[in-house]
Amino acid sequence: MAGEVLGIDVGGSSVKAGLVDLEAGRLAGELIAAPTPRPSTPVAVTNVLAALAGRLPASAGRVGVAFPSVIKEGTAYTAANIDAAWVGTDGAALASQALGRPVLFLNDADAAGLAEMRWGAGRGCKGTVVMLTFGTGIGTALFAGGKLFPNTELGHLELGGMDAEKWASARVRTAENLDFPAWIERVNEYLAEMHRLFWPDVFILGGAVSERFAEFAPLLRSPAELRPAQFAGQAGVVGAALAAAES
Ligand code: BGC
Repeated sequence: MAGEVLGIDVGGSSVKAGLVDLEAGRLAGELIAAPTPRPSTPVAVTNVLAALAGRLPASAGRVGVAFPSVIKEGTAYTAANIDAAWVGTDGAALASQALGRPVLFLNDADAAGLAEMRWGAGRGCKGTVVMLTFGTGIGTALFAGGKLFPNTELGHLELGGMDAEKWASARVRTAENLDFPAWIERVNEYLAEMHRLFWPDVFILGGAVSERFAEFAPLLRSPAELRPAQFAGQAGVVGAALAAAES
């Protein structure tokens, strides 16, 4: 594994891209971004991938694309926060055509978790680790013995009779204008339910929670160890590149 690999992270509000230095375990240059198109159809999103790749220095080899859906063998199976036309779409083939290079397509939280486990907050953790990303939705990645169990989709656990991410995501905090203590109380309820079911040793908290961890830490509660993600908004890009290089 050597050189610089292109990683792209498709999110509910923006698409980010950067070249990743896999020897150093970090971005090799700048992180660039563009708004997620609306509607976020396969063609519209693929055009954004190509435009972002065109703005970065040339790189070779497989490209990693992190995507907010269940992904199996390059195909998207769900579409909670992305256009429904993605369901059944072979995203790897489509992106590969647009970028002129082979592409590895994987779930965005799985990508973020891979980056954190290799170089960030989960480095060296052999127990059960759950990575959570709080953004437009809630993304989850489950690791045991350092190995990923892919496509866990635990942001859709039921909490108080509703889809957990419709109750506790960062988008809901903004939409319902919740103050931080009120939102963190919801996050705590979610962590409690996750702990009841999975008994993780460590939760890695990413997205909006990691960005202001020092402020939130005194309000957060869990029997498991709570660690802030270290890659902040870059985890998906770094992890996608890592997964592509190792695929
Ligand atoms: C999607 C997941 C994704 C998460 C974070 C959820 O709505 O179902 O696949 O990982 O959002 O983007």
